[in-house]
Amino acid sequence: MHIIVTGGAGYIGTHTCLELLTSGYDVTVVDNLSNSCREGLRRVEKLTGKSLCSFYHIDLIDPLATDKVFQHCPDAAAVIHFAGLKAVGESVAQPLRYYQNNLTGTINLCQSMQRYGVKNLVFSSSCTVYGTPASVPITEDFPLGVCTNPYGRSKAMIEDILRDLHQSDPEWNIALLRYFNPVGAHESGVIGEDPNGVPNNLMPYISQVAVGKLQQLSVFGNDYPTPDGTGVRDYIHVVDLAKGHLCALEKLQQQPGAFACNLGTGQGYSVLEMIAAFERVSGQKINYTIAPRRQGDIACAYADPSFAARELGWKAERGLDVMCRDTWNWQSKNPQGYASR
Ligand code: UFG
Repeated sequence: MHIIVTGGAGYIGTHTCLELLTSGYDVTVVDNLSNSCREGLRRVEKLTGKSLCSFYHIDLIDPLATDKVFQHCPDAAAVIHFAGLKAVGESVAQPLRYYQNNLTGTINLCQSMQRYGVKNLVFSSSCTVYGTPASVPITEDFPLGVCTNPYGRSKAMIEDILRDLHQSDPEWNIALLRYFNPVGAHESGVIGEDPNGVPNNLMPYISQVAVGKLQQLSVFGNDYPTPDGTGVRDYIHVVDLAKGHLCALEKLQQQPGAFACNLGTGQGYSVLEMIAAFERVSGQKINYTIAPRRQGDIACAYADPSFAARELGWKAERGLDVMCRDTWNWQSKNPQGYASR
């Protein structure tokens, strides 16, 4: 079965391509390389001993280029759509860029899919669509909340668009996968997260402090209503997350329709717990200081993953120590990310 993966050169994309290739899928990647590079995919090919069908260095906001991909892949059966801008702070500063890229890119993609009769889609959504949840754990039937930034709103809007699309034409089969906090790397340490510039997210920040690239972590707030006062999140190993996409693809084949599904572990850890676990597993000391809360952050979010277990037969298998081990393995072998080799 031939799958087109948009944003396949990125962090979650490379790990998903690896799982797809290993499981015998044919894979075509479309990526504008705005926050990724070809090296990650080269390493995926080397690790799996398999080649991508093709790679298109194009931008989904170009409808003609997007159409061409489908023209050249007449046997494509489904699309996994990762491509999108994802930095919360940047989205506040550049809302039009975010809306144009994320919304127009998705609309162009769906129009091409419709024209070429490819109506199976797995979309990278986010737990950000829940806004500030009324309680935890979060189930899929929680109301979609007020997102605090354009990035989050673009995810929520795309979910709406895709639900409308399914309503208008039930031939569309759509999985909206709501990721919690992806961390870790492939156990080989050959592929991993390589953020542009200073990381926004906790784990890459911790690992860059550990490797000496950054001086000190700021812990954003220690006065939240959580056991130790720091923010609690549901960190999920990227390999577990990647495998969730394959389960979603299978589900769409077996039981067509449209559904939203949390991909998380169901377990929340605080920032201080993450630091302590990383120190224990890596043997590195993490310098940190307590800083004011970051605007837009919530106290606590973790998934109820039972829908995924029931409906997709999927469950996260990698615990906190493996997440830290694999993050450190990747970071210590690739201190400059993909640029170091
Ligand atoms: N944190 C720090 N210091 C840092 C970075 C993060 O203390 O330098 C804290 C945050 O305050 C939060 C936790 O670590 O409590 C996790 O922060 P991340 O930035 O790693 O992740 P978020 O949960 O804020 O963000 C994630 C996704 C976003 C998504 C958001 C929605 O990365 O794409 O969830 O809640 F929009």
